[in-house]
Amino acid sequence: MKKQYITHSPEETEQAAKEIASELSPGWVVALYGDLGAGKTVFSRGFARALNITEPVSSPTFTIVQEYPCEKGVLYHLDLYRIDDTDAALAFGVDEFLYDKNAYALVEWPERLDKGLFPKNTLCIRIERGRDAENERILSIEDTPSPEKKK
Ligand SMILES: Nc1ncnc2c1ncn2[C@@H]1O[C@H](COP(=O)(O)OP(=O)(O)O)[C@@H](O)[C@H]1O
Ligand SMILES: [Mg+2]
Repeated sequence: MKKQYITHSPEETEQAAKEIASELSPGWVVALYGDLGAGKTVFSRGFARALNITEPVSSPTFTIVQEYPCEKGVLYHLDLYRIDDTDAALAFGVDEFLYDKNAYALVEWPERLDKGLFPKNTLCIRIERGRDAENERILSIEDTPSPEKKK
């Protein structure tokens, strides 16, 4: 897995997500950082396609979590935009999705949660606009937020 991907279209971001998905197994959480319109949902769509999920993948803002069964288990797609804080997320049962060993979990707006809540197997990806803010995106793989892995 590369440390950084620079993409020039939604299709290229989906492709990067597919590459990343191919290196992860169920039990992994992918925390997707980035502003509104950065490309978190586009990334999630590519990730789902890599798991042979053919259903439409859109922003689950109003449902908080979408569940997609797949051959390898389940993909959870969470959008925490409307969640106020960790307590609200726990009340909603977020840990059930983050700690499901048979599932992948993609999390949009992970900053809503305390970093310590994420499992060790969390990959953090930051998506930012490049110089061409319209079409260019920089995907950076960051260190896991899990305290155990911090230096
Ligand atoms: N290189 C790129 N990668 C991803 N999305 C891009 C890219 N270039 C333009 N876009 C556009 O940016 C928007 C990203 O939207 P979305 O994935 O819903 O953002 P988020 O979920 O982060 O709010 C889409 O309209 C998409 O077409
Ligand atoms: Mg989104």
